[in-house]
Amino acid sequence: MMRRWLWSTGAWLEHRLGLKDSVWPMMRHPVPRGANWWYVFGSATMTLLIIQIVTGICLALVYVPSPDQAFESLEYLNYHQYMGWFLRALHYWAATGMVCMLFVHLTQVFLFGAFKYPRELTWIVGVGLLACTLFMGFSGQVLRWDQDAYWGVGVGASMAGRVPIIGPQVVELLLGGTQIGAPTLSRFFALHVFVVPGLLISLLVLHLYLVLRKGISEPPVPGKPVDPKTYEAEYEEKLKGGEPFFPDSMWRDAIFSFLTILVAVGVAAYLGPYGPRSVPDPTLIQANPRPDWYFLWLFALLALSPPEAETFIMLVLPVLLFGILIVIPFVSNTGERSWRRRPIAVLSVISVFVTFVVLTYLGFTSPWSPEMEAWSATTVPENMIQWTPDLKKPEDKHTLSPVQLQGAVVLQNKNCRNCHALDGKGGHRGPDLTDVATRLTRDELIRQVIQGGGNMPAYGKQLKPAEVDALVDFLGTLRPKDQPGARSSASLSP
Ligand code: HEC
Repeated sequence: MMRRWLWSTGAWLEHRLGLKDSVWPMMRHPVPRGANWWYVFGSATMTLLIIQIVTGICLALVYVPSPDQAFESLEYLNYHQYMGWFLRALHYWAATGMVCMLFVHLTQVFLFGAFKYPRELTWIVGVGLLACTLFMGFSGQVLRWDQDAYWGVGVGASMAGRVPIIGPQVVELLLGGTQIGAPTLSRFFALHVFVVPGLLISLLVLHLYLVLRKGISEPPVPGKPVDPKTYEAEYEEKLKGGEPFFPDSMWRDAIFSFLTILVAVGVAAYLGPYGPRSVPDPTLIQANPRPDWYFLWLFALLALSPPEAETFIMLVLPVLLFGILIVIPFVSNTGERSWRRRPIAVLSVISVFVTFVVLTYLGFTSPWSPEMEAWSATTVPENMIQWTPDLKKPEDKHTLSPVQLQGAVVLQNKNCRNCHALDGKGGHRGPDLTDVATRLTRDELIRQVIQGGGNMPAYGKQLKPAEVDALVDFLGTLRPKDQPGARSSASLSP
C-alpha cells in the first residue's frame, strides 16, 4: 500500500520534473579515470558554503543590525540562546575553513594546470568566487561590530577613498554617509546577507555549469602539453574509458566533505565562538585592533611599510593581485600542465605561500604596536636590580642605589615597558633598553625622555625633574656589567 503510494507520487513528480532525462545523466556523466583525492577540495569548499548558509540564516534570525544592539545580540547568542554559541562558533570556523579550502582548491587547480584551454572561464569565475568569499569574510567581521570591526571598516573606507575621482562617493556608498554609523551597519548587513551571497551563489552555479560542460581536467601527465587543436578530441577519447561521476567518483567527494564537516564541528565545539571582543569606542586607545587572520598579512604589510607606500598597498596591490589571477589563463593557456614541468608556477606558489606565512606571523605578533599590560604585568628583571659582576667573588654584590631604584619604578609606572623590553620582555615598539647605556650618554638619555621623538612620546611635561634624574640614573646602569657606558661613563657608573 505504502509502496504503491510512494511509487505513484514519484511517477507523478517525475512526469512533471523529468529528472531521469536531466539530472540523472548529469550524475552519471563520465569523468576521466585517475581523477583522485586531489580533486575533492572544490566540493569541500561548497560543503562549507552550505554550512555557512544554514548557520547564517539561523544567526540572522537573532542578530540585530543596529549599532546599539548588535553587540548585545551577539552576547545574547553567546550566553542565553540555546546553542547560540555553537551557531556562532560554527559560522566563524566554517568561514575560516572555507577560505582555507578555497585557497587549497585554487592552488591545486593552478599546479595541475587545470585553468588551461578550454577551462579559462571556469578559472575566471572561480576568481570571482574568491573575491566574493573574501568580501563575505570582511563584511562578516564588520557585523561583529566590536573594536576590530570598527577599525576594519575604517581601513576599508580608507581603501575605497583612494579610488581616483569617485573615491568619496564610493566611501559614502559603503558607509551610508560620510562617517561610520548606524547606516554603515545596515549596509554591511544587507551586503552580507543578500547582495554578496546572491552574487556568490549565481557565480557558483555558473562555475558548476562550466565544470560539467567542459568536464573536469584529467590528471596531468608530464610531456603531454595542451594543444587547443587536438585537446577536446583527446579528452573525448579519454572519457570513453572513464568512470561515471556517481557513484564511482562522488564517494571521494562525499567522504572528504564529511570529514570537513566533522573538523568544522569539532573545532567550533572546542574553540567556541570568536568575539565580540570589546564595545567599539573610537576614543579607546587600549584597543589593539586586528583583522581576522586571512587579512592579517595586509595589516602587517601596511604597518611595516613607509607611509608613502600606503596608497599602493591599499589600492593598487589588491587590483594587481586579482588582475594577475585573471590573466593567468590568458598568459599560459596551452603547453605543459604538469607542475613537474612548470618550475615558474611551482616557485611562485612557494614564494606566495612563504610571504603569506611570514606576514601573517608578523601580523599575529604585531611587534609594532605597544603591549598594553607590560608596565604592570612585566617586572624589572632581578639581575638589573642586584648583580654580582664576578662570579668568583659572590660576596661582591652590587645593588642599585635608592635613586636608581626610584628610576626603575618610574620606568614601570610611566608605561615605558609597554613599548620597551628589558631582557626581551615587554613591548617591542621601541628598542630593547637592556643595553641602552652602551648606546646613549646621560645627556642623550635625558633628551630622549624629555623630548621623545621618533615615534616616542615626549615625557617632559609628565615627569618631575627629580623623576627624570632618577630614571636616567637607572637607565645608565643598563649595560653589560663588565662594559663601560657610552662615552662619558664617569657620570653613569653605578
Ligand atoms: C609609545 C611607545 C613608547 C613609549 C611609551 C616610550 N618609548 Fe622610548 N622609544 C620609543 C621609540 C619608538 C623609540 C625609538 C625612537 C627613534 O627611533 O628615534 C624610543 C627610544 C627610546 C630611547 C632611545 C633608545 C635607543 O637605543 O636609541 C630611550 C632611552 C627611551 N626610548 C626611553 C623611554 C623611557 C624612559 C620611556 C618612559 C618614560 C619611554 N621610552 C616610553 C617608543 C616609546
